[in-house]
Amino acid sequence: MSELNLVLLGPPGSGKGTQGERLQDELELPYWATGDILRAAVREGTELGLAAKEYMDRGDLVPDEVIVGMIGERIASPEADDGFILDGFPRTAPQAEALAAKLSDLGRELTAVLLIDVGDAEVERRLGGRRTCAEQGHVFHVEFNPPREDGVCDVDGSELVVRDDDKPEVIRHRLQQYHAKTAPLVEHYDGQSLLRRIDGAAPPDAVADEIRRTLATLRLEADEAI
Ligand code: AP5
Repeated sequence: MSELNLVLLGPPGSGKGTQGERLQDELELPYWATGDILRAAVREGTELGLAAKEYMDRGDLVPDEVIVGMIGERIASPEADDGFILDGFPRTAPQAEALAAKLSDLGRELTAVLLIDVGDAEVERRLGGRRTCAEQGHVFHVEFNPPREDGVCDVDGSELVVRDDDKPEVIRHRLQQYHAKTAPLVEHYDGQSLLRRIDGAAPPDAVADEIRRTLATLRLEADEAI
C-alpha cells in the first residue's frame, strides 16, 4: 500500500483521540484532530479560536467552511505525502464531500474509515471522568486510564483539567449533534466499502489491537489487488 489515508469516526468520547495518539506513533503519519486544532486556537486567542469558541462551549459543530479550509491545507502539505490520520473530520455530509473533492484534486483517495463504535451510556461515563492535559491535550480518565500522579500529565507534566464541553448537559447536546449530523456518515462510507467497524467498548489496548489487525488486513487486500 503506497499511502495510508485514514479517518477516525465515532461519537464524542469513543476513544478517537486515545487511539489516534497511539496510531500516530506506530504509523509515523501526521495526525490531525480538528478538536485539538480548534482548542489550540482558542488558547492562543486567534481569529479562528474566537470564532469557534462559542460553538464548542455549547457543544455545537463549528461551521463547515471554517473546518474544511483548515484540514484541506494540511492534507495538501508535503507532510501528508505518505498519508494521514484524521480525527473528528469529516463530521457532516458537506465535510465528507469537501474531503472527497480535495483528495480527488490531489489524485488520491481515502484508504479506510475506522468507526470506533460505542453506545451513549458509555460515552457519558467516559467523558464524565476524562481529564485533559492543559498544554497539549493528552488524554486520561480518572478510572480507566489514570495518570501516574493525580492531576498531572504523564507526558509533559502539565496540569490536567476538565474540558469546558465535558459538562453533563453539553455532553448530551454533543451526542444529539453526533446522531443528527455525523452518524449518517457511517452509512455513507459503508456504501463506499470504506468503513471498518471497531468495537470501541473494549479496553484501550484491545481496541488498539483490533485496529492493528484491521490495518494488516487492509494491507493484505491491497497487496492481493496489485
Ligand atoms: P472533539 O475534540 O473532536 O470532540 P469529540 O469528537 O466530541 O471527541 P472527544 O475528543 O470528546 O472524544 P474522543 O473520541 O477523542 O475520546 P477520548 O480518546 O478523549 O471536538 C470538540 C468540538 O470541536 C466539537 O464539539 C465541535 O464544536 C468542534 N469540532 C471539532 N471537529 C469539528 C468538525 N469536523 N466540524 C465541526 N465542528 C468540529 O476518550 C474519552 C475518555 O475515555 C478519555 O478519558 C479516555 O481516557 C477514555 N477512554 C478512551 N478509550 C477508552 C476505552 N477503550 N475504555 C475506557 N476508557 C477509554
